[in-house]
Formats: sequence, C-alpha cells, structure tokens
Amino acid sequence: MPDLGSVSWPPEPIRTERLVLRAARARDRPAFIELLASPEVHAHLGGPRPRDVLERELPEVPGRWPGSFVVDLDGTMIGQVLLRRPAGDRLAAVGKVDLGYLFLPEVWGLGYAAEACTAALGWLDRVLPGEPVVLATQTANAGSMRLAAKLGFTEVERFHAWDAEQWLGMRSPVTPSR
Ligand SMILES: CC(C)(COP(=O)(O)OP(=O)(O)OC[C@H]1O[C@@H](n2cnc3c(N)ncnc32)[C@H](O)[C@@H]1OP(=O)(O)O)[C@@H](O)C(=O)NCCC(=O)NCCS
Repeated sequence: MPDLGSVSWPPEPIRTERLVLRAARARDRPAFIELLASPEVHAHLGGPRPRDVLERELPEVPGRWPGSFVVDLDGTMIGQVLLRRPAGDRLAAVGKVDLGYLFLPEVWGLGYAAEACTAALGWLDRVLPGEPVVLATQTANAGSMRLAAKLGFTEVERFHAWDAEQWLGMRSPVTPSR
C-alpha cells in the first residue's frame, strides 16, 4: 500500500463530538465486508465485490495500514476514511496524499462523513504539515461532491475515465500557525 512516509501509526484514537477514528481491529471485519459488498456504497466506485469472495479473502484485520481510519460510532464501525498516496496518472495528483471515504448507507445524511474527514485531515495537518491533499470522485456522486466542497476542496480538473466524468479536487495545505 503506498504510504504516508514516516508518520507514526497507529495514532492515539481521535475523538470528535460523536465519533472515534482509530486503526482497524479484527472485530471490524464484518463491517468491512458490508462496506465492500454494498451496491449502494459502490454505485460510483466501479461496483461492489462479491460477498463470498470477501468472506474468503479479506485478512483477519482488513484495512490495517497507515492512513486507514476506521470510523467508530458507539463502539461499532460505520465507515472508513483513507489517506494514502496511490499510484495514478493524473499529473496534478501524482505523489500527493489522496482522501477517500466510505460509509454504510444507513448512516448517510447525518454529517458523520464530514465530521470524520475533518478530523482525519486535522490529523494529517499535524503529522505532515503543509501537505496538499487531493480527492477524486465521479461528478455523478452528488453526496461525495457536496462533501468535497464542505471540506474545502476546489476543482483542479474534470476528466473522463472508467465510463464516467471524474472530478479531481485539491485542498491547499494549511499553514501551521506559529
Ligand atoms: C460520500 C458519502 C461519504 C457522503 O456521506 P454523507 O453522510 O452524505 O455526508 P455528510 O457527512 O457530509 O452528511 C451530509 C448530510 O448530513 C446532514 N446532517 C444531518 N445531521 C447533521 C449534523 N449533525 N451535522 C452535519 N450534517 C448533518 C447535512 O445536512 C448533509 O445533508 P446534505 O448532503 O443534503 O447537504 C457517502 O454517500 C458514501 O459513503 N458514499 C459511498 C462511497 C463513496 O462514494 N465515496 C466517494 C469516493 S472517495
């Protein structure tokens, strides 16, 4: 997994008003399967993976890598926020940290994704000050486009890939206060 460099991982769990962001644990495996097998979650992400394949192939603790936050509500995983440097061919995104997010449909529309992503970006600003962050999403993914705008991402470019219009946004680095 392309990593974030020398960040120390896992961090202490990050507490927000309603949520905890933490590293994955074995008991999150069923929620990872729900997320990855959900047709709703993957409507704009190339489609879900078959549940039986996930049951067989997912590691005992899925999503255990630096930058992969499980979002926990009252002790249960409701989503994942991902910060990573994927290999990609869009010039504006090459080598940059990329933000991704996946939440279970039953918690959409409650502001949890915005709350969790804000906390994860705050963590990134502390451990890697000055890092720009990019975000790619389909323009048809209305909830994701609204979230990107709410988080302060602005459009860099639109392009066509995987049979859909894609949006690449960027969040300028936060200048550390002295
Ligand atoms: C993209 C995704 C994370 C957005 O989730 P979401 O729950 O709609 O996002 P937010 O956390 O921003 O919540 C938004 C809504 O909660 C509402 N809300 C309700 N209570 C709230 C509260 N206490 N605080 C803030 N917002 C609240 C807001 O008004 C907002 O409504 P709006 O979108 O109609 O304006 C979700 O749809 C998802 O997981 N999709 C599948 C995965 C995916 O496509 N990922 C994108 C590619 S990386």
